[in-house]
Amino acid sequence: MVENTPEHCDLIIRNGTVIDGTGSTRTKADIAISGDRITSVGDMGNTVSEQEIDATGRIVSPGFIDVHTHDDRALISDPQMAMKISQGVTTVIVGNCGISLSPIHLNRPPPPPMNLLGDQSWYRFITMDDYIEELEKRPPAVNAALLVGHSTLRVGTMCDVNRPATDTEIHTMRKLLGDSMKAGALGFSTGLFYPTNSAAPTEEVIALAEIAAISDGLYVTHMRNEHDQVSESLEETFEIGRRAKLPVIISHHKCAGVKNFGRTHETLARIDTVRLSQDVGLDVYPYAAGSTALLPEFLEEGSKVLITWSTAIPSAAGRYLHEIAAEMEMSEQQMCQRLQPAGAVYFMMDEEDVRRVLRHPHSMIGSDGLPHDTKPHPRLWGTFPRILGHYARELGLFSLEEAVRKMTQLSANRFGLKDRGQLKAGAFADLVIFDAERITDRSTYEDPLQQADGIERVIVNGLVAWQEGRTTGVRQGRVLKRAT
Ligand code: ZN
Ligand code: CU
Repeated sequence: MVENTPEHCDLIIRNGTVIDGTGSTRTKADIAISGDRITSVGDMGNTVSEQEIDATGRIVSPGFIDVHTHDDRALISDPQMAMKISQGVTTVIVGNCGISLSPIHLNRPPPPPMNLLGDQSWYRFITMDDYIEELEKRPPAVNAALLVGHSTLRVGTMCDVNRPATDTEIHTMRKLLGDSMKAGALGFSTGLFYPTNSAAPTEEVIALAEIAAISDGLYVTHMRNEHDQVSESLEETFEIGRRAKLPVIISHHKCAGVKNFGRTHETLARIDTVRLSQDVGLDVYPYAAGSTALLPEFLEEGSKVLITWSTAIPSAAGRYLHEIAAEMEMSEQQMCQRLQPAGAVYFMMDEEDVRRVLRHPHSMIGSDGLPHDTKPHPRLWGTFPRILGHYARELGLFSLEEAVRKMTQLSANRFGLKDRGQLKAGAFADLVIFDAERITDRSTYEDPLQQADGIERVIVNGLVAWQEGRTTGVRQGRVLKRAT
């Protein structure tokens, strides 16, 4: 007689409803995990395990990938990463918008927008290897993948960033970028909109993007203009991708300013056309307001501005610029100067545009959260539950399966995160268990530091990092280097 011997694994998640990240319809299945990998998906009636989780009535999906973050320093200063893991995020991509914490050693205060990550004491990783070493020595709770920022390269190389780089400076930046790519960075990012980056002509960007291309990297961009010249900026982005021969990703795609409301019809159609001949991706956050440094040149007639932090007047955080200006009997411009350095939320998008970009089959979800602001934009704590709760369940903008795909497999494929973003045997065990009926973002513009509801458990590389509404103290995150 043949005895049916039970198989062993480290952890079993039983009776869950699996949404695997590919967009396929949900199925009922058990999941077995051993070490840091998923070993099988199916009926695990004959498997025994030390640890079991009952996921009856719950969705089990791959851990979410936050493709657009500014968590470079939070990974070190706040390694539990509660603001992300509480949303089901198991991987963050840092170094966006042209700002990365390395490779640079700053001996003066970082200019905006680099000050969004921290003061000069944080800009101390002269090479990407040094930064990676720090993350590997004291791992955070989530995985991290890295981009190299153009502003970081410029501020570290040039004594005056308000002009194009010289040939010698470009040579130095190419070397720094090349070394960072060898260390495992996924690509090169720009924030051509920002004062530290905007004097760079297209040719300078191409000269650097070429170096990322040699290592099969990506070009990721906060474009020069997301307002009236959004079309010209898209064309510049496509040209950079074409001439440097690498895929491009348009960060937090939007058409900002009342005059441009509705123009995502035009920009998405153009992206679709260009996609026929070149590799183009995009990401988006689910809010009609943006957030960045507070700068006088960013103020626009008629749109509201909410202060997120101010070093000069800390009590201004959480208040509207027009209100404080009225109280102080100043113009908004004057008030803006008085608050420096500072950050703000800008209400400058059309909700219909936001929905159109969210619905686009190639848009990935990225929070663009700013973790060090006093009163941050609610996207920091709310992005992923807001997609699943508000946009998928309440508004029916897309199915839950499609929502999950936009934050898992699509993102992992785009950024080359091997064996992540899909729930299948052999993949890394990055998982989230959530209640599809309950999941809701609770952070608001008024009260942004609110944990979302409905994320029950989060597993990173095989171990539970979040349960019962709090972090477990497990810090299993890894640096996801570019697959070579
Ligand atoms: Zn940006
Ligand atoms: Cu950003």
